[in-house]
Amino acid sequence: MAILKVARMGHPVLRQKCTAIAPEMITGPEVQRLIRDMFETMAEYNGVGLAAPQVHQPVRLLIAGGETERGGKPKFRVLINPEITVRPNAGQLGMYEGCLSVPGLRGWVERPDKINVQGYNDQGQKLDFDLDGFPAVVMQHECDHLDGVLYVDRIEDKTKFAFEEEANRYLDPEEFDD
Ligand code: NI
Repeated sequence: MAILKVARMGHPVLRQKCTAIAPEMITGPEVQRLIRDMFETMAEYNGVGLAAPQVHQPVRLLIAGGETERGGKPKFRVLINPEITVRPNAGQLGMYEGCLSVPGLRGWVERPDKINVQGYNDQGQKLDFDLDGFPAVVMQHECDHLDGVLYVDRIEDKTKFAFEEEANRYLDPEEFDD
């Protein structure tokens, strides 16, 4: 296992459309090692999610958290080649987002709060599930990374883009990091 270097905003790997992973490759050693290293890297930096391009691998693989198991343990999902659909009854959920690739900053972003997610898990099995609220926001933030989009692109009110310390002091404290 290894803690990987995290690409920061300005690195071109964060701005490209990532390529799909062939489903039969998912259980192979390369993808499995990448997943393990991404978990270790995300834990090291206290992320609630991480996308492969953030560790310089431009493939459609992500880890997304924000859910809890029964008993309160944080739950993380591995998603490969994810497809997101906004559900018809969705509203908007706004929060101060952060990103391990944009360290030290926070910005207010609003996203749909009810989505359907399809893709493959880390065993190459097809998944189809719904997410509501915070985990839906995390999943959309991570999926954006696979298309070269950063949360900063989605900040409409630039007065709500701030350094972490100032955001905690002067702005709404609801936030997350990935
Ligand atoms: Ni991010």
